[in-house]
Amino acid sequence: MRFFAVLSTVCAASIVACAPSRPAERATASGLLAGFSRGVSFGNALDAPREGEWGVVLSERHFAAAAAAGFDHVRLPVRFGAHAGSAAPFRIESAFLRRVDWAVDQALSHGLGVVVDFHHYDELTTDPDTHGSRFVALWTELASHYRDRPARVALELLNEPHDALTAPKWNALLADAVRAIRAVDPERLLIVDGPGWAAATALHELTLPPSDGRLVASFHCYEPLLFTHQGAEWMGPEYQTVGLVFPGPPPRPVEPVPAARSVDWVREWFHGYATAPAVDNPGGVGPIIAAFDRAQAFARGAHVPLYLGEFAAIDRAESPSRARWLRAVRTEAERRGIAWAYWDDGGRMRALDVERGTWLEPLRSALFE
Ligand code: BGC
Repeated sequence: MRFFAVLSTVCAASIVACAPSRPAERATASGLLAGFSRGVSFGNALDAPREGEWGVVLSERHFAAAAAAGFDHVRLPVRFGAHAGSAAPFRIESAFLRRVDWAVDQALSHGLGVVVDFHHYDELTTDPDTHGSRFVALWTELASHYRDRPARVALELLNEPHDALTAPKWNALLADAVRAIRAVDPERLLIVDGPGWAAATALHELTLPPSDGRLVASFHCYEPLLFTHQGAEWMGPEYQTVGLVFPGPPPRPVEPVPAARSVDWVREWFHGYATAPAVDNPGGVGPIIAAFDRAQAFARGAHVPLYLGEFAAIDRAESPSRARWLRAVRTEAERRGIAWAYWDDGGRMRALDVERGTWLEPLRSALFE
C-alpha cells in the first residue's frame, strides 16, 4: 500500500518515466484464439457478388442455430472487394458495411465470436500488382471500422490466396496489410491464410511478420480433393466422378469419368484408390494426417497457432462416407488442439437446414460427438 502511494507520487511527477517498464499483459494469439475453437462459415451469402445471388441470405436463424448447436464462433466470408470504390480512397459502400455489421452484431448477441473474412477478391488474385494497394487501403478502412469491437471479433486477411498472388507476392502484401492494420489496431486477432489456396502443402511458403504476437496461420483441408469435391459444378471435368466412398479402397469398383483418365495425377489417384490397402490409400485418412502434420510443422517453426478455416465434403458423396470424413478431420484437429470452422455454403456443403433451424444428421454428430 505504502509502496503504491510512493509510486503514484513519483508517477504523478513524471508520467512518461513511469510508463510501465513491464507492459500490461497483452493477450496472445493463443489466448485470443481460445474463443474460436469450433466454428461454422456461412458461405455464399455476403461473399456472393450480391447477397442472395447464390441462394443464401443470412438471417437471425443462422446465428441462433449456430449457438444452439454448440459452435463458439462463426466465420463470415465477405466480398468487400465488390462493394468498394474502384479509385482512391476506395470507400466501402456504407449500406454494405451496415449489413456486415448486422451480421457481426448477430454473432456477438448470440454469444458467438466472429471471424470477418475477406473472401473472393478475384481481381487481386488475378492481378495483384494492380489491386495490392487497394487491398491495403481497404484493410486500413476496415481496421478503423472494427477497432472498437470486442476481442471476439477477429479479422481474416484474405481467403485462399492463389493464382497470380503467388507466395512471394502474398507474403509481401500481407506484411503491408498487417502493418496498416497494426497502425490502427495493435491488439486484434488476425488470421492469415497460406498461399496456394490455403492448402497445408503450401503453408511452409507463408512468411509472417515477426514479433507480432497476435497472428494465426490458417489452412483448409479438403483432402482427398477428388472425394470431397466429387461432382462439384465449380470444379473441372476431372472431378466429375461420383460414387466415391471414404475411406478407400471402395468395396465396389468406381469407374472414373473419361476426363479423369486424361489428367495424370487424377488417373494415378484412381489407380491407388482402387488398389492400395487402407493404410496407404490416397482416398483414406493418410492424406488428412499428412496435411495436419505439414501444417503443424509450419506452425511450430513459425511459433504461431493454427486455425483450420475450412473443411467440408459435398453432398454428392453418400452420407455415411461424408460423416466419416468429417469426423476424421474434426477429431484430427481436436486431437492436436487446432481450432476449426466447418464450411457451410448453404448449398451442396450445407449442414444447416435454416428453415427448420436444425442441423443435418449425421453431419452434426460428426462435428460434435
Ligand atoms: C470457396 C467456395 C468453395 C469452397 C469449397 C471456399 O473457399 O470460397 O466457393 O465452395 O471453398 O470448394
